[in-house]
Amino acid sequence: MNVKFNEVVLSKDAKSLINECLLSGHFQSDGIYSKKVLDYFYSHMSIRKMVLTTSCSHALESALWLYEISGGDEVILPSYNFPSAPNAVLLHRGQIKFCDISLDTLCLDENDMLNRIGPKTKVLIPMHYGGISCDMDMLAKEKCEIDKWVIVEDSAQGAFSRYKGRYLGTIGNIGCYSFHGTKNIQGGEGGALIVNDPNIDFDRVQSMVQKGTNRHQFLSGDTSYYTWMHPGSSYTPSDLLMALLYSQLLEREAFSMTRRQSYDRYENQLAPFVGYKGLEKMIQIPDYNESNYHMFYVRFESMKLRNQIMDSLAIKGIDSRFHFMALHNTPMGYRLGYKAADFPNSQKASETILRLPLHNHMTIDEVDYVCESLVDILKEL
Ligand SMILES: Cc1ncc(COP(=O)(O)O)c(C=O)c1O
Repeated sequence: MNVKFNEVVLSKDAKSLINECLLSGHFQSDGIYSKKVLDYFYSHMSIRKMVLTTSCSHALESALWLYEISGGDEVILPSYNFPSAPNAVLLHRGQIKFCDISLDTLCLDENDMLNRIGPKTKVLIPMHYGGISCDMDMLAKEKCEIDKWVIVEDSAQGAFSRYKGRYLGTIGNIGCYSFHGTKNIQGGEGGALIVNDPNIDFDRVQSMVQKGTNRHQFLSGDTSYYTWMHPGSSYTPSDLLMALLYSQLLEREAFSMTRRQSYDRYENQLAPFVGYKGLEKMIQIPDYNESNYHMFYVRFESMKLRNQIMDSLAIKGIDSRFHFMALHNTPMGYRLGYKAADFPNSQKASETILRLPLHNHMTIDEVDYVCESLVDILKEL
């Protein structure tokens, strides 16, 4: 049997919605499907304000732009990460300050992040890894006491997960989602910027993603023409992609169910083998978290063993993956002055993690085959 790591299958309404969009002649941003996607989020979550973006990377860039990050302002974020958030810091000429993660969640170590806060710290970017939440209260409590910095949630992988009942992305000053083809709900490419901070002028946000213009006011009929109002860029997604995304949102509950069943099956079948032949740990959802089941991972005692298992799974037709790479220990990380030994937990996670296939169309037979194969490989060691 071959088991893909991620499988993209068209949702039931994808073709008809895209066809309708094509026939409407409106392929650019702000068409009916962009509105339907926004309405879906507003009606399912308690969201103050939200704009759709071309990607989560662009949402993160916009967030730092809104808070006017500039030379010397420090932004703290975990090293075990995707490059988008640190790229956004560099784009705005801020200073990247990495922190380490907790090996329990592979999300940031909240105490390590708080200990690194200094007089120049302007933004904290907690990243919710695999749909598992950072402990947001720990960061927010400190924030209220001093109120000097803002929190931008990198919730690229966390849409529809909750922390103590609240949706990830709706807790910090700003939240950012990804709808990339590897996420639970996909538009091929796409993202969202959620503005929870009442002090941010939402008119400015809409302008920022629309080339710095007040086109949104023109579209709503509030002005007869639009013009250049603020610094901005072109961050709004095509309605064609939003038609695809909307077709996925319509099937979200079925997708969530499949993911949850696959996750539970992995957990039940592999739990007895934690501690056996170097299989050290598997993903665990903290009590405060309701997960979107974005991923299932196991961790091994060494990189050598992890790589050996990955190769053996590949021979059996199973596509497993490892990432993230700890960003401090990359060519760009060295250019920023970091050394390999700087963040031991981030490094350990990069070296020992193995992500098993999990997607919206996974079958129980596939999960069983992955589990049986993994256990057989371990037994033969
Ligand atoms: C944690 C994290 N942040 C940001 C991104 C970037 O998302 P996008 O591809 O929508 O720009 C990703 C993508 O996988 C991610 O995992």
